[in-house]
Amino acid sequence: MSNPLQQRIAPQLEDFIREGTYKRLNFLDGPQGPRVRMEGRGEVIILSSNNYLGLSNEPAVVQAGKAALDRFGAGTASVRFICGTFTIHRALESACARLVGTAAALSFVSAWNANEAVPGTLLTEHDLIISDQLNHASIIDGIRLAKAITKCQTAVYQHGDLADLDAKLAAARDRRVKMVVTDGIFSMEGAIAKLPDLIELCHRHQAVLVVDDSHATGVLGKNGRGTAEHFGLVGQVDIITSTLGKALGGAAGGFVAASAEVCDYLTQRARPQLFSNALPPTVAASSLASIEFLEAHPDRVAALQANARYFREQLLGLGFKPLAGETPIIPVILGETAAAIRMSDLLLSEGVFVTGFGYPVVPQGQARVRCQISAAHTRADLDQALAAFKKVGRQLHLI
Ligand SMILES: Cc1ncc(COP(=O)(O)O)c(C=O)c1O
Repeated sequence: MSNPLQQRIAPQLEDFIREGTYKRLNFLDGPQGPRVRMEGRGEVIILSSNNYLGLSNEPAVVQAGKAALDRFGAGTASVRFICGTFTIHRALESACARLVGTAAALSFVSAWNANEAVPGTLLTEHDLIISDQLNHASIIDGIRLAKAITKCQTAVYQHGDLADLDAKLAAARDRRVKMVVTDGIFSMEGAIAKLPDLIELCHRHQAVLVVDDSHATGVLGKNGRGTAEHFGLVGQVDIITSTLGKALGGAAGGFVAASAEVCDYLTQRARPQLFSNALPPTVAASSLASIEFLEAHPDRVAALQANARYFREQLLGLGFKPLAGETPIIPVILGETAAAIRMSDLLLSEGVFVTGFGYPVVPQGQARVRCQISAAHTRADLDQALAAFKKVGRQLHLI
């Protein structure tokens, strides 16, 4: 087959391979866990999963999914307002709201969809949305779409730069609704948003604050309730979006947690709700079981935080210079994309699965390997991974 599209992309794929930026998919033949069975590699330690609490293969979580399959069948077979919505969705949404501390929540088939729904549904041509420079791609694309659909104004503030945000909000006095959006934990850096300052600034400018807590739900705060709990500010964020595809079971799905009115408005008008199926009931049930597990076992969050502290300290002790931080996302910057991919390949040869990230996922020249720690890792897992880092770090003259 040869057509203009094929003619354009085939040589580009060859370029990716030549430049060392081609992503090869690794196939796993078993559930996510601290160690996984990788096709052609055998058992490897995984340091690149968002399975922060180790719940993706937790018996209660898996069993809840199986029971929901028996009770509700495979799915809704249409969108919720047309053919009905399962009671398990209502139970999940009330648990999401309870967990993050809002009046209501609405589930989506992904956090990507949730982030897409918020600006495109809630803003108009009279409004403005301002986004942190390092926000997740789903927020960026959601804003691009909102601009096209609603003609709202858009702006970007320098990463974590509250003075820049203040100036941009001050310059937008004529805008009816001003929406500020930030990641709770920035996924490629592991940095935590400066929530107390953001809340104060948004109050002062009467702006609506949206926090994407996809990497913070189940991770930050004593009970894993997210960025707001970390700062003692539960109940003070206007809109929280988050995923069910990471700490909360890791299957898929996302949600918007906010006031009852915001969730109702999204139910009425959000296009990803109105024109797309609901979460499969298996996934809704597994996610609900994950939230209930988290609520009953805050010790998992403590174990995650202790593991992250240990790995970071040991990595520093070996002479690596990971980005500073206090979350289970621990990136080691290497510069060029090919260098990150090479380090990741060498680590995999040592039985440690850590993904290398390059442009366009991270800015040009800031390619990195990103370690993600789980509560499920044992000290033996972490020590074995650290030994591999030591060997590969010496081989590459990084330490
Ligand atoms: C910060 C952030 N927001 C949103 C998403 C999208 O989540 P989902 O996989 O549920 O679409 C991700 C996933 O990588 C993320 O890291």
